[in-house]
Amino acid sequence: MLECRGLVKSYQDKCVVKDLSFEVKRGEVFALLGSNGAGKTTTIKMILGLVKPDGGEIDLEDGVTVGYSPETPYFPPFLTGKEVLWYYGRIQKIGKERLREEISKLLDIVGLNDDKTKIRHYSKGMLQRLALAQAMSGNPELLILDEPTAGLDALGRAEMMGLIRRLKEEGKTIIVNSHILNDMERVCDRGIIMKKGKLLRTWTKNELGKEETLEQLFLLTVGGVA
Ligand SMILES: Nc1ncnc2c1ncn2[C@@H]1O[C@H](COP(=O)(O)OP(=O)(O)OP(=O)(O)O)[C@@H](O)[C@H]1O
Ligand SMILES: [Mg+2]
Repeated sequence: MLECRGLVKSYQDKCVVKDLSFEVKRGEVFALLGSNGAGKTTTIKMILGLVKPDGGEIDLEDGVTVGYSPETPYFPPFLTGKEVLWYYGRIQKIGKERLREEISKLLDIVGLNDDKTKIRHYSKGMLQRLALAQAMSGNPELLILDEPTAGLDALGRAEMMGLIRRLKEEGKTIIVNSHILNDMERVCDRGIIMKKGKLLRTWTKNELGKEETLEQLFLLTVGGVA
């Protein structure tokens, strides 16, 4: 569904993504893993066309619809969650009737239905949940979730992982990153591990034996420690 070949990106003199190549197949949950500053968010922004690569190519299958939940979601502070979804849904030109139904479903899924709180009074977890609902709006085929569990409590995280699994069962393709590798191990089929802009290795769920957890693989790959 998506192929990145030789992606390069520099900010000023600093090269933050270096010759990065990987592909994501339709229907899989793909993990972008890496230490802080490894270039995950930059890579996501290049895929979305929000940041222009200095080199390389990005091939996204023709006509694929994409939903995105950013690392630090920001919404107009004077709106409620429902109003935010209405606003974005109308920008996507979703018909009013369909949108009303969809918003109610989405808010149910993320546990924010009947909530009248204005965004300015949202907790971090509530913002994260709303960002996910917004990403799912319009029923996109590819979901790109940049740290969707950041700020969520244990129950919220478990719910988010359950939701990712459900979306996969519905046939969605998901690119996700999180520093909580236990969570990633549970839901992801495959992924890459990056450090300082470089791809260190790819991994698949099947490779992880009973002995080795994703966290151990990550520590070995990134830091040389098990
Ligand atoms: N707009 C920018 N201007 C200058 N440098 C930037 C910019 N955005 C990112 N960087 C730098 O690029 C590098 C990669 O950042 P990026 O946000 O992609 O990392 P990340 O892997 O998402 O990290 P984290 O896990 O902390 O979210 C970092 O060194 C960061 O300081
Ligand atoms: Mg990031």
